[in-house]
Parts: sequence; structure tokens; C-alpha cells
Amino acid sequence: MPSYFVETSACRYPVLVERGGLRNVRQFIPERAGKAFLISTEDVWKLHGAALARAIGDHPHEILFFPGGEPRKRLAEVETLAEQMVARGGDRSSVIVAFGGGILTDVAGFLAAIFMRGIPVIQIPTTLLAQVDAAIGGKTGVNLACGKNLLGSFHQPLAVIIDPGVLDTLPEREYRAGLFEIIKHGVIADADLFWLMSREPQRVMSHAPEVVDRMICDSVRIKAEVVSGDEKEQDRRRILNFGHTFGHALEAETGYSQFLHGEAVAWGMKAATLLGAKERLLSVEDKQEILRCVNSYGPLPPLAGIDPARIAARLKSDKKTVQGKIHFVLPERIGAVKITADVQERFVAAAIEEALTC
Ligand SMILES: NC(=O)c1ccc[n+]([C@@H]2O[C@H](COP(=O)([O-])OP(=O)(O)OC[C@H]3O[C@@H](n4cnc5c(N)ncnc54)[C@H](O)[C@@H]3O)[C@@H](O)[C@H]2O)c1
Repeated sequence: MPSYFVETSACRYPVLVERGGLRNVRQFIPERAGKAFLISTEDVWKLHGAALARAIGDHPHEILFFPGGEPRKRLAEVETLAEQMVARGGDRSSVIVAFGGGILTDVAGFLAAIFMRGIPVIQIPTTLLAQVDAAIGGKTGVNLACGKNLLGSFHQPLAVIIDPGVLDTLPEREYRAGLFEIIKHGVIADADLFWLMSREPQRVMSHAPEVVDRMICDSVRIKAEVVSGDEKEQDRRRILNFGHTFGHALEAETGYSQFLHGEAVAWGMKAATLLGAKERLLSVEDKQEILRCVNSYGPLPPLAGIDPARIAARLKSDKKTVQGKIHFVLPERIGAVKITADVQERFVAAAIEEALTC
């Protein structure tokens, strides 16, 4: 199975995609490292912890649990974990192994970024969404009550180890949530990947290994390439936010409890697609193909009762909104997007309204 590399001005690290790849973790722990802190959630540990513990072998280690869930993705939980690390002998030589979904990899990655001013982290994502997106690229962080991921840091891992086999235990709704991020990669950068998702829903939904592995590898390649060119999201990395500007507003409006992150992004991609068509950037045919593909991996939780005007108002407080200017990532065709702040407000409102019903 292939390895991909993320290469920034400060570091270069591998993203390994391999069934059974957990067994490789030991080779990424630096020779002089002190204790390894394996941070996970109890559900993931019960299912897959034994394999990770076996792979760590006799390297000194401790296992810590984070409770999980978007409402617990908060600074207080980072502090609790840090106190536990110190109590169990954590110091500057320690290394963190983050083992879980995207919430866990964001929280444990952020802990690594700030523990004793920064220690290394190895990311081992266990949801589809974290494997194709969250664990790659070094973005870590936690939520504030007033907004998502508003505290955080760029902290690139030593390595990312992706074992597609662990997805067999993932609940179907979580699997679908990850599929939406893969559709995103197809729309922004890879028409072939998009058409695979569009034409093969049965094989995708039945976890056909060759399809799952290809979806993951293509996504990892795209994410690694985009992050390598623009680690701090000054330019090209912003294309990865396709669907996220609208999606974050929907998540905030519904109290982070009604939609999984990937589901909110799915809705956001529909809104961005409709906006792209209204701005005449995107053909009617491509608009329909994108909407059809997203809908074919639904259903999304009910959207009735959500006020479009409140979503539109929330767009302005997104952390990517700079000096009141919202930068939208809009599709120009399947496989290419454009970043623009130059859109008509009435089209934004109309796209939100239409996306709530289509
Ligand atoms: N840092 C980034 O670049 C980035 C990118 C995208 C998303 N994110 C973040 O990722 C988070 C969403 O992550 P998520 O969708 O993975 O949700 P999640 O972390 O909540 O995981 C979903 C659920 O599945 C469980 N689980 C994980 N692996 C499992 C397995 N193999 N089998 C059975 N159950 C398993 C988890 O414990 C959890 O209950 C959001 O907070 C989002 O902001 C970050």
C-alpha cells in the first residue's frame, strides 16, 4: 500500500495507508522518546485498543481516555488530559499517540501542540472522516462556546497511520459522514474520484475494500498535496473549505448536536453548488450532478424549521471571514473550484433557502 508525504517548510512526514498498518506504529516513535501517551475514546479502545497496545509492545506507555463528542471538544478537557499526563510521568520527552475520530485527533493534537510548549504526536485516525481529512495537515484545536475550532494551533504530526480495516466497526451514519468529505475532494480537485462516488454508490456503501482503499488513497493524496503547498491556509489550502463555510454556520445554528460534521458539510456543499450556479460559474448539468451525488449518500437529518436568515447572519462570524468579507469556495466545474468574495448577497440568501429543501 502506498505512503504519501506532507512536506512543509519545517517538516516532512509520511501518511501511511495500509490494512493492518497499526502494527507499524513503533517505528515512528523516536528512539529517545520517553513515555508514549496513547489517547483514545473508550469505544474505540474497546474495539481496536488491543491491536495498538500489541504494536506499542514494551515501549513505556500510558492509556488516557477523552470522553468524546463535539460538546466536550473544549479546553477544559485538554487541561484534564494534561494534568493526567503530568501525574503519570509525562515530560518533554513524551510522545502522544492520538487514536480515534476527528474530534479525538483534533483534541489530542492540540494537547501535543501545547504540552510543555509542544511534544510530538502520531495520528492514528479511526473514522473515515478523520482518515481522509481531519488527521492530515496539522490543524488541531478545540471549540469555544461561541464557535467551532476557535482555539487551536498548527502542529504537524510525526506520521499519520491509516488502517482502512478499522472502519468495519464504524456506524453507518459516521461512514456516510466521511463519504461527504470524499465527495468534497472529488469536486475540488479530482473529477475521477467524483465519478467513482457518483456511479458506484452500492460498492461504496458495501465497504468494498478496493473502493474504500481507493477513496482513502485519492483523498490522502489530494489533502497531502494541498497542505504541502500551503500549510497555513494562506492560499490554495482554502479550497478544502468547500462546503465548510455554510456547514459551520449550520452546525452553530443547530447547537452542534443535530448534524455530524460531515453531514453539515454535505448541506454546505449543496448551498455552495447552488450559489456557484446562480453566479453563473457552474453549468446547470454539473450543478445537478453534484446535488445528485450528495443526495445519494443521504438522508441528512431534517432541515425543516431552520431559519435561512439566521444561517446567512452566522456566515459573517465564521473565523474565515476577514474584515466582514466572506470568502466562498464555489465550484466552476466538477474537479475545480474558485475562491471568491465577490458574490451577490441576494444569491447567498437564495442558495441557503434552496439548499434547505433540495
Ligand atoms: N483538523 C482538521 O483539519 C479537521 C478536518 C475535518 C474535520 N475536523 C474535525 O473532526 C471532527 C469530526 O470527526 P469525526 O467525524 O471523526 O467524529 P468523531 O470524532 O466524533 O467520531 C465519530 C464517532 O465514532 C466513534 N468511532 C471512531 N472510530 C471508530 C471505529 N473505528 N469504530 C467504531 N466507532 C468509532 C467515535 O468514538 C465517535 O463516537 C469535528 O470536530 C471536525 O471539526 C477537523
